[in-house]
Amino acid sequence: MMCLNLTRYEEDILRGKHGEAKQLAMRIIAKIAESMGAEGLVEIVSVQAMAHFGSLHIAGRDWLEKLACMGGKCCVPTTQDPSSIPFEKWEEMGYDSEYSENQLRLRDAIIKLGEFPAWSCTPYNQGSVPRFGQNVAWAESSAVIYANSILGARTNRTPAGLAICAALTGRAPGFGMYLEENRRAQIRVNVEAGALSDLDYNTIGIVLGKTVGNKVPALFGIPQSATNDNLKYLGASAASSGSVALCHIDKVTPEAIMGDPFRGEKPECELTIDRRILDETAASMCAPPHGQPDLVVTGCPHSSASEVLKIGRLLEGKRIKPGKGFWIFTNYETDSLMRRMGVVQQLEQSGVKMMVSTCLVISPLVGAYRTLMTDSGKFASYLPSEHSVGLIYASIEDCINTVAE
Ligand code: F3S
Repeated sequence: MMCLNLTRYEEDILRGKHGEAKQLAMRIIAKIAESMGAEGLVEIVSVQAMAHFGSLHIAGRDWLEKLACMGGKCCVPTTQDPSSIPFEKWEEMGYDSEYSENQLRLRDAIIKLGEFPAWSCTPYNQGSVPRFGQNVAWAESSAVIYANSILGARTNRTPAGLAICAALTGRAPGFGMYLEENRRAQIRVNVEAGALSDLDYNTIGIVLGKTVGNKVPALFGIPQSATNDNLKYLGASAASSGSVALCHIDKVTPEAIMGDPFRGEKPECELTIDRRILDETAASMCAPPHGQPDLVVTGCPHSSASEVLKIGRLLEGKRIKPGKGFWIFTNYETDSLMRRMGVVQQLEQSGVKMMVSTCLVISPLVGAYRTLMTDSGKFASYLPSEHSVGLIYASIEDCINTVAE
């Protein structure tokens, strides 16, 4: 294809030697690569795709069904973001049946295409873990920043339509974060806020996204004791309040451990995040109408086993107050693990609802809730506008103390 350097295998796909679906997918990849000025394609080892009706709508449903009818099959391990309905609870919770039917058709399509039905935004907690330096094509922005920064793998913020093409061909357009020169840090960020709470990591991410936009920051002052969950929230918040795809962290992330994240060049600018900035930003995330929250939502990105365990401990001997709700968003694997420990049963007895395989940003809010409360910077960024609700942004301990007794 004209100015692109393609391998024999890639050219064969374009000529239709590997079937109609792969050919169509490769045409799209090649067009995007050309329009982005890429010299060629990169080989990828996994895909995080999207198949939620809340974003894909009828057009996206038809697109995936068409590829499945054409005989398309994923040739690399492919997972996908959460569904727009909780598959096991949508009827009992009163989700609209036409909407749900569309989501079920999308579920059928991805199975035919050979995707693993993971339905989670944390594929790295479910066995999809690329090694340092490997290329992947991931679509979920919180997973993209995690892959690039924490794992040292390489991916752009892949659009949903392109992700499935990458899954069918094992290739992605070679531009952006796949190229070494684009991974250099551009902005130095000093975190000087004393001891950091779990909520602070979310808030640092929010500040980062709002100030650096789509540039690559290098953070200094994050302790090596930061957990993977802390870093997950920092990245998810930065990728949602801005469009950060890669964030180096001094002494923590692999490319910053291996060498100078600025690659010998001077940072374009330097900024400091102190305690005042963190507290003011946290306060600014609350959205009116406040009043008393009627629903706590946590697990954005999906809660890990450690987080569910922690909530179980905090709620031991307590119950969610009448008229209030507490929803934990997580994936099948975490739910299953916590069930085997008896934690989910205890949480359900306390009045907690496990929202497995789904996400509140990309699904309807079922129930008459006016003010939500969350410990997630990404939920806080999106939920007030998505569902026209008030929002209180606070630590998980405060969330529990507010709605449980
Ligand atoms: Fe995951 Fe939905 Fe949050 S996809 S990162 S729970 S917005």
